[in-house]
Amino acid sequence: MTGDPGAPTAIRYGAVAQALHWLIAALAVVIVTLGLAATSAPHNSAARDDLLMLHRSVGLTILALMVVRAAWRRWHPPPPLPATLARIEARLAHSTHIALYILFILMPMAGYLGSAGADHAGRFFGLAAIPRLIPVNPRLAQWAIAAHLLGQYLVYVIVGLHVAGAAYHALLRRDGVFERMLPVPGRARFGG
Ligand code: HEM
Ligand code: HEM
Repeated sequence: MTGDPGAPTAIRYGAVAQALHWLIAALAVVIVTLGLAATSAPHNSAARDDLLMLHRSVGLTILALMVVRAAWRRWHPPPPLPATLARIEARLAHSTHIALYILFILMPMAGYLGSAGADHAGRFFGLAAIPRLIPVNPRLAQWAIAAHLLGQYLVYVIVGLHVAGAAYHALLRRDGVFERMLPVPGRARFGG
């Protein structure tokens, strides 16, 4: 920090936005691992059923957290990006963030439609039945699961781009953008 009197006062995401970001980032690793483990487990095995049950439960948790996060963002807009970023960089970051919001809401919805449409909504962490909000519809379920399986590659690409961008700012640019998502001030240098 330079103590520049012209620098914006809020330079980092707030505590709630940060907590939700890192919780969902950790759950993203868990959900993909569970999805891949479930689909590689033998068909009709207890292990596959358990892994899918956990996968669905974590996925619905991500959906709920993403909705809370999007609502929170509406009332707590993120701090402006530093002026040192080129317009194209800011646009790229913004588009990636929008894509992540859309993806992490649509992926769980497709997964849910695939499971519920096939009458396999399952139980939330084994504790309570997940309500089936749609009529059984095997055709819709097939389309939804196909979209879900394809969507995973979008997740890999967009999250990969996002993490590469974060690493670029943290290690090469060292412009404080990475620290915006950390609870410590770090080496942010704004306004110049
Ligand atoms: C952000 C959330 C989610 C992500 C990133 C995700 C990702 C994945 C991945 C990577 C797989 C393995 C695909 C493969 O082996 O090729 C998978 C499979 C699956 N997911 Fe998800 N998933 C999410 C949420 C959900 C939710 C909420 C449900 C259901 C309520 C669900 C239901 C399923 C099912 C049923 C399969 C197995 C499909 C099959 O039998 O081939 N997913 N998911
Ligand atoms: C190790 C993995 C990750 C790192 C290092 C990371 C890092 C960051 C950083 C530094 C920012 C702030 C960027 C800025 O100031 O403009 C950010 C924002 C963001 N990240 Fe990540 N992230 C990771 C994983 C994820 C994942 C898995 C998601 C999936 C949902 C995600 C979604 C977002 C979104 C949506 C924003 C924009 C927040 C907003 O403006 O509301 N991140 N991330």
